[in-house]
Amino acid sequence: MSDIEAIQAQLVSEIEAAADAGAVEALRVSALGKAGSITALLKTLGGMSPEERQAQGPRIHTLRETVTAALGARKAALDAAELDVKLAAETIDMSLPADTAPRGSVHPVSQVMDELAEIFADMGFAVATGPEIEDDWRNFTALNIPETHPARAMHDTFYFPDKDAEGRAMLLRTHTSPVQIRTMMSEEPPIRIIAPGRVYRSDSDATHTPMFHQVEGLVIDRNIHMGHLKWTLETFLKAYFERDDIVLRLRPSYFPFTEPSAEVDVGYKQEKGRRIVGGNGDDEGHAWMELLGSGMVNRRVIANCGLDPDEWQGFAFGVGVDRLAMLKYGMDDLRAFFDGDLRWLSHYGFGALSVPTLSGGISA
Ligand code: PHE
Repeated sequence: MSDIEAIQAQLVSEIEAAADAGAVEALRVSALGKAGSITALLKTLGGMSPEERQAQGPRIHTLRETVTAALGARKAALDAAELDVKLAAETIDMSLPADTAPRGSVHPVSQVMDELAEIFADMGFAVATGPEIEDDWRNFTALNIPETHPARAMHDTFYFPDKDAEGRAMLLRTHTSPVQIRTMMSEEPPIRIIAPGRVYRSDSDATHTPMFHQVEGLVIDRNIHMGHLKWTLETFLKAYFERDDIVLRLRPSYFPFTEPSAEVDVGYKQEKGRRIVGGNGDDEGHAWMELLGSGMVNRRVIANCGLDPDEWQGFAFGVGVDRLAMLKYGMDDLRAFFDGDLRWLSHYGFGALSVPTLSGGISA
């Protein structure tokens, strides 16, 4: 019966040419379905003589198996091709530029805080944080500012109406110095930290906003003296302003939590209405500008934190982050920092992908 071989050849070539899964299925139904051609051939076996059936049976079964295998192979090939097309279409080239202009920028305050963290990390300082809602013990008392001290009034503190569970008055921290207390009470010396963050005082004009930013520095170790303080500040300010001609002047001052205390002035000159930091304040055309508060940590503060002041000494400093930003990047009104004006942000903001590094250039 050469017609069986003919049917097989015909079906296999049609299956191999099937263009899609629908065509394969249609061929399967026409051959193997209830009314299919191979099904019909199988039915004829019943009406055959035993000899005839013995001869025809295996041929018809082979036909069915060959066609079934061809259908399966074609279906698998079509599925694989379909998957390839899909994968090719879904490929994402991560090296292509984004098809929208990048939006948003890094706020100068964040930029300066990143620059500070980078500079101080290089000198072995970790970044510490504390809450903006503080108690008056950590913000004042532990820092050697007793209840009756005039410094409390000077800080123009925002108080909360209720006291905390320990009966301490709650307030918005007026400086980052309470992080000194938190760090000394929770960590074993030696300590080297900076603590950047928001602080609050009830004060508002072109150079004062009720919320502003400070960065605190604290070093506690053995045999620390003011030379370490001066070197640290000089190294920091040279790196921050990215120039070597930074000249500092340490002026005796008073803070309850440092003894002795020094206010640090930096030499600057006026250029096109802008203060350019650098040079000696006593030179022709130069002047001194007060930049930060500092001093050797008062023995009482060290003792208040449970450390032995005969064993541990250190220095601390505090500086306004917004002030540092204004001096380096030339803004003249502090209030604009907190207006959220997109034009100001796109003018003074920094690219989100250019992270400050000492090797790559702090403000690059
Ligand atoms: N906390 C002080 C202020 O806000 C600054 C300061 C910090 C001074 C650390 C000395 C040491 O004015």
